Amino acid sequence: MRVYISQRIFSEAQEFLRKEGITFEMNEGARLSKEGLIKKIQGADGVICLLSDQIDSEILESNPRLKVISNIAVGYDNINVGAATKLKIMVTNTPGVLTETTADLVFALLLSVARRIVEADKFTRAGKYEGWELIQPHLGIDIYGKTLGIIGLGRIGRAVAKRAYLGFDMKILYYDEIRNKQAEKELGTEFVEFDELLERSDFVSIHTPLTEKTRHMFSHTQFRKMKKSAFLINTARGPVVNEGELVRALKDGEIKGAGLDVYEEEPKVHPELVKLDNVVLLPHIASASVETRTTMATMAAENVVAALKGKEPPNLVNKEVVRRGRAQ
Ligand code: DGY
Repeated sequence: MRVYISQRIFSEAQEFLRKEGITFEMNEGARLSKEGLIKKIQGADGVICLLSDQIDSEILESNPRLKVISNIAVGYDNINVGAATKLKIMVTNTPGVLTETTADLVFALLLSVARRIVEADKFTRAGKYEGWELIQPHLGIDIYGKTLGIIGLGRIGRAVAKRAYLGFDMKILYYDEIRNKQAEKELGTEFVEFDELLERSDFVSIHTPLTEKTRHMFSHTQFRKMKKSAFLINTARGPVVNEGELVRALKDGEIKGAGLDVYEEEPKVHPELVKLDNVVLLPHIASASVETRTTMATMAAENVVAALKGKEPPNLVNKEVVRRGRAQ
């Protein structure tokens, strides 16, 4: 059994593959083009890839040996799962392991934008700090006791709610397609409709997967409904937000600021965002702790091994493939 790995992964995950008798080739160079990836995966039984690899039907159809695509991410909007299912190719992801790390980063962003950490850091490094002033240039706003609106109360949304509730005494609103009464009881969260959440929240944090329904869920109409003093935090997927409209809302003062870890056309960042002081921009690092990224890679290796050994992988996304019987 042969596996192709689209980018360098941690040695722990490589070791695991070797121990399980899997032969693999790993791309140690630059990111591959679509054509490059198609060439490289020929003859492979499985592929371990990243969320930055767009695995479309052409790639999936290019290799009739393919049995599994193991994505090192919880989100799998980069893979055409429908096409994979038709071709009886299993798709796996890495849920659960990055929940707490991502929730930590949500608070890093939230604190950074509300308390103007990045601006203040630049100011201090530039030698501009000349002594304590009461009315100083980086007055921020309090987080403690404010209202946080969570879009999507899944694993990460709940971990964010827990921090907000226990650590910051925040009032928590959430909007989701599924109501979670247990979380409402345990974390004091209140279920509200989307518009009400927008109108009442001081901070809005996005935790929904990218689907055709959530694409551009945040656009001009939604920004206009938000408080002018509100901040938007996005650590989910860039295209959930219409980036051009966000720039307009930030410039026109429709919202106060934003903390972004993801972008509409990653790795491109809207050139106007870069010019704004009221945004904090990160390069998609919500899960990027050594511990979590190592575990993600190992999980992806475990998923691929299970699939290639004829077992149901622990994190199979398209269970229909197993139910209908996989091509051997
Ligand atoms: C994921 O796993 O989907 C995250 O975006 C990675 O940080």
